[in-house]
Amino acid sequence: GKGEYDHYMEKEIHSQPTSLANTIEGRVEDGTVSFDSLEPGTFENVDAVQFVACGTSYHAAMYAGQLLRAAGLPTDVIRASEYETAAGPVDEGTLVVAVTQSGETADTLDAVRTAAGHGAQTLAVTNVVGSTAAREADNALYIRAGPEVGVAATKTYSSQAVTLTLLTQRLAADVPEATPAEDREDLLETLQDLPQHVDTVLETSRARVLAREFMNSTSYFFIGNGFGHSVALEGALKFKEITYEHAEGFASGELKHGPLALVTDKSPLFAVYTDGSDDKTKTNAIEAQSRGAPIVAVGPADHPLVDVADAHLSVPDTHPVWAGLLANVQLQLVSYHAATLLERSIDKPRNLAKSVTVE
Ligand code: M6R
Repeated sequence: GKGEYDHYMEKEIHSQPTSLANTIEGRVEDGTVSFDSLEPGTFENVDAVQFVACGTSYHAAMYAGQLLRAAGLPTDVIRASEYETAAGPVDEGTLVVAVTQSGETADTLDAVRTAAGHGAQTLAVTNVVGSTAAREADNALYIRAGPEVGVAATKTYSSQAVTLTLLTQRLAADVPEATPAEDREDLLETLQDLPQHVDTVLETSRARVLAREFMNSTSYFFIGNGFGHSVALEGALKFKEITYEHAEGFASGELKHGPLALVTDKSPLFAVYTDGSDDKTKTNAIEAQSRGAPIVAVGPADHPLVDVADAHLSVPDTHPVWAGLLANVQLQLVSYHAATLLERSIDKPRNLAKSVTVE
């Protein structure tokens, strides 16, 4: 049941310190990532990676895509429904990773089947043991988030992003051409603090006050660069999904290539950044501010945007990869509180289903 919470979504947001601890448990030791279900050497013949996913799972996959490209491995992140036309060459050296919470999304299953038909190696990253994706793929890796009831994906997103980040380091160890991240030690060490940091965000968030303040806006914009870009897309998806308000996410630099035309004093802009050096997000947020948009800085305190922003949703200082996930927790809370204030059907938004089993 929902216990002390009004909605499953609220409960699931608040369970992230625990679900993330489960996701991490036993998978990082002495700076090495290991997964019970994946023998060392599983990926030694991989020379390219394609992630296929839909919706929130696609946003989690973007995270891993950025990390693998940084490791020097050719990587694509492809919307599963576009696989037929968007995928480049696929052969036995291609690892196709299906990222799907339910393991039952038709578009994602279809993409994996197509890839397997071309000889690709396949891996399902899923929450559901025994799901179709887990059964059909060559290997399965579980995100261990626990059952998610709310249609809006929350705790499964954070567990996917963590599992996929660990997978990138595991891949870099197997694949001869890939170089593990230079700051890998820091990345893995700071992961241990993530559940505690999520707890801090949940305890101290000012998201409810902000959601109330910005009620009655015409549009809600979310921008970010790098990891912040995927978080911005996810923030906008969650917001529109449960509030029914118009929300859009962009790469920070894209704002001036069109969307800026929609910016007014009735379009608050959430600027997501994961470290102090993200100038693109700062410059573009300030551009929106000069057209009257209230701007909300979402990220660690040590960023120049914090001083000029109209509001700040703060996240603890940590590695940029984890800072993005913490920023996302703030945005989950913004969406949740906005939807509650608007009296929306939080756990079952109109027109949507938890798992989309049609193409
Ligand atoms: O079960 P999956 O991860 O394959 O689902 C993919 C999307 O349908 C899903 O993430 C959807 O976007 C979420 N409900 C959004 O909150």
